[in-house]
Amino acid sequence: MKLDKVICPCKKVKRIDVLQAIADGAVTLGQIEKKTGAMSKCGKCKQDIKKLMKKLEDL
Ligand code: FES
Repeated sequence: MKLDKVICPCKKVKRIDVLQAIADGAVTLGQIEKKTGAMSKCGKCKQDIKKLMKKLEDL
């Protein structure tokens, strides 16, 4: 997985930023939004972020 791939173009949030937010304790989409700003504009990245969270759960 390329960690520096932008997952939310609106806010220029990368996968690694989402992972960092989760490492810092974010467990819900709302908390990830609060910490990173992702999903706060068009919301199109929401599904991709959900998928990323699911991948982590499956580890
Ligand atoms: S792509 Fe994330 S808010 Fe638009």
